[in-house]
Amino acid sequence: MSEKFVVRGSGPISGSVYVPGAKNSVLKLMAATLLTDGTFELTNVPDIVDVTIMGELLAELGVEMLRPAPGQLLLTDTGDINPVAPYELVEKIRASINVLGPLLTRCGEVRLSMPGGDDFGARPIDMHVSGLEAMGAEFKFSHGYLEARCERLHGADITFDFPSVGATENLMTAAVFATGRTTIDNCAREPEITDLCNFLVAMGANISGIGTSTLVIEGVERDELHPISHHTVPDRIQAATYLAAAAVSNGELDVLGIRPDDMTMLLDRFADMGLQMSPVEMAGHTGLHVAAPDRLRSIDVATLPYPGIATDYKPLIITMLSVADGVGIVTENLYPGRFRYVEELQRLGADVSTTGHHAVIRGVPRLSGAEVKAHDIRAGAAMVVAGLAAEGETIISGVHHIDRGYDDLVGRLSAVGASIERIPG
Ligand code: UD1
Repeated sequence: MSEKFVVRGSGPISGSVYVPGAKNSVLKLMAATLLTDGTFELTNVPDIVDVTIMGELLAELGVEMLRPAPGQLLLTDTGDINPVAPYELVEKIRASINVLGPLLTRCGEVRLSMPGGDDFGARPIDMHVSGLEAMGAEFKFSHGYLEARCERLHGADITFDFPSVGATENLMTAAVFATGRTTIDNCAREPEITDLCNFLVAMGANISGIGTSTLVIEGVERDELHPISHHTVPDRIQAATYLAAAAVSNGELDVLGIRPDDMTMLLDRFADMGLQMSPVEMAGHTGLHVAAPDRLRSIDVATLPYPGIATDYKPLIITMLSVADGVGIVTENLYPGRFRYVEELQRLGADVSTTGHHAVIRGVPRLSGAEVKAHDIRAGAAMVVAGLAAEGETIISGVHHIDRGYDDLVGRLSAVGASIERIPG
């Protein structure tokens, strides 16, 4: 059944909000459990639809998922891994591509439907394929499926043209029990990649250079790996969403469970916009206290791979700039087509124009509520934040996108005084 969110701009929000683990980490950790048998435990797992879909995909491949308690997953190899990832599941989430590396290195063959996920322009996988070819895999593409085969993979020296998140993850998991040494130069180094590296090392993998742009993986034997328990890194994009909600409503929030060190560049820019932030410790969690007493100031921002400003923050930043004082320019360097939600912001009265990779945002004092669509996860969350900055009622359709990546956004925002409800669509 389709559903909608109704948001009413009703003044400053205040209180505290706990941010759970990162979608873009947990889905990769789940895929990496395919490397070995036994039972893995993941904690700080967000309650989001993409986790359910990844669980269904793993079940199809031969790994059973249980959720014994909120935030906890148990993943157990059923002893019969079937390396065929079908279209119905793969087309729903981009992270399904992450099963390629573990399945290939474990089974020596994979049939994977081409991955789906958020629709923001072409998202090729050439770097995944050429990196695995350098390690000894052979690929063929037929009838919408990517088919890969190999004897045992071998180490290789790989240099990326661009630090792709997914390709870094696939190659480093594939290299865990390849023979010899694999070096991945100009790799991505997002906090979620560091989380996956730490997970693999705890399992028995030999990885150095963690957190840098050169990863070195010395292959180990499969029987040197063992299942582990792991706490998922906090979600910096959900964290930014609550900071943005506080900012546009001139509110005051304690955003807990997060790691500000993973978001340094964004927090610097938020400070430039006038957000007042200080470390806080509460109920056993660390985080940030944020206050936005005054109207935000405009800034210019360019998205870049980590440690730059993530492209996933961009819809939130553009929404904040829509109500800031002055003119801001946002430049997208990762996905040229990722401005679809701008039309929706315009329906709310935002003054935004786009050309090529750039958006020019002239701040207005207040947006005005209207019916809008969530085109993808992050754009959907930005519509919610925009609704908090709008006069009257904002009705958001397509909220199934938001549910893919946000753990109870409605409940969390309601608890800090926002007027937001979920209604049948
Ligand atoms: C991940 C995140 C996504 C985020 C993105 C960039 C997940 C599930 N998704 O996506 O939310 O927006 O990182 O931070 O973690 N590219 C190629 N060839 C390749 C691989 C990538 O050309 O083989 C290009 C892509 O088209 C894109 C850019 O590289 O323009 C970034 O892609 P990548 O870093 O791989 O992002 P994802 O892992 O897909």
